[in-house]
Amino acid sequence: MTQTLTIRRPDDWHLHLRDGAMLEGVLPETARHFGRAIIMPNLVPPVVTADDARAYRDRTLAAVPAGMAFEPLMTLYLTETTDPGNVAAAHAAGLITAVKLYPAGATTNSASGVRDIDRVMPVLETMAEIGLPLCIHGEVTDPAVDIFDREEVFLDTVLDPLRTRIPELKVTLEHVTTAQGVDYVTAAEGDIAATITTHHLMINRNHILAGGIRPHYYCLPVAKRATHQQALRKAAVSGNPRFFLGTDSAPHADPTKESACGCAGVFSATNTLSCLAHVFEEEGALDRLEGFTSRFGPARYGLAPADTTITLEKRDDPVAYPAKIDTGAGPVTVFDPGHPLFWHVTA
Ligand code: NCD
Ligand code: ZN
Repeated sequence: MTQTLTIRRPDDWHLHLRDGAMLEGVLPETARHFGRAIIMPNLVPPVVTADDARAYRDRTLAAVPAGMAFEPLMTLYLTETTDPGNVAAAHAAGLITAVKLYPAGATTNSASGVRDIDRVMPVLETMAEIGLPLCIHGEVTDPAVDIFDREEVFLDTVLDPLRTRIPELKVTLEHVTTAQGVDYVTAAEGDIAATITTHHLMINRNHILAGGIRPHYYCLPVAKRATHQQALRKAAVSGNPRFFLGTDSAPHADPTKESACGCAGVFSATNTLSCLAHVFEEEGALDRLEGFTSRFGPARYGLAPADTTITLEKRDDPVAYPAKIDTGAGPVTVFDPGHPLFWHVTA
């Protein structure tokens, strides 16, 4: 029997689109299923000022294929020289939805990020005053800290002290990957939420490393052991509105991933909804999928949920997704969960 599920049109609260030919190649993959997305600012050079955000928004809108409706929600990349007045003006003009904090060196294109949090306190204080959320890549960069511990250490040494200093700051802990991160966000007082990616619900570190190294599963924060994956799945299906979808779909052309030193990033825009329906069904929580993909994110950002819907249908035949997307910037491999998916997005 065919099962169908109709939900409000989803939004993606953490997405990398890049620029130029890559932007043109990958944007349709998101716009096909999603109404809005928070667009990450880690271009080279990064999107740091209101003018940068306006120009990037315009380039993004220009890449939306005819007949598709998609609203990019722009962000600014926080640097140690970011001007609080420029951030406030961008917010007042309706140009930006959030500001992104990358610890310098934490991940792809993060060299201009923050080394000393004291230097960005004036911006963060302004953001708390005007109610502008801070999206955080929550990993320490100290080379002495094991890569699998970098999120957990960040919670204690950076995030919690920051939230104690500015309790009114709205914080989104992005792409949470640990049970400790889930517990922190669940228990914390004040205005905090977390996004969870599609791939972190479907893979753990064994998938990356056991039986051969799989570069297309490598991303940052890196997937942790299976117990953490289970904690993320529990949080995602819990119905707790503090946890919602941010795919962190992050395209890199295949040669840059299939390399002796491959880039971090998983590209999952194409099949994310089939993946999520699969996970929520496995968890016996299909009725909670809409909250995770379409309701909790808008509520968090003070926006209405979409007034349009999409329909998913579970069929006997698997969905035929392409293994790669061809872009003008090269082929990009689509996230492969390692098993067939039966939930088709039909309308
Ligand atoms: C992202 C990218 O490629 O821009 N990579 C990733 O592994 N997630 C950067 C990021 O969000 O960390
Ligand atoms: Zn990201």
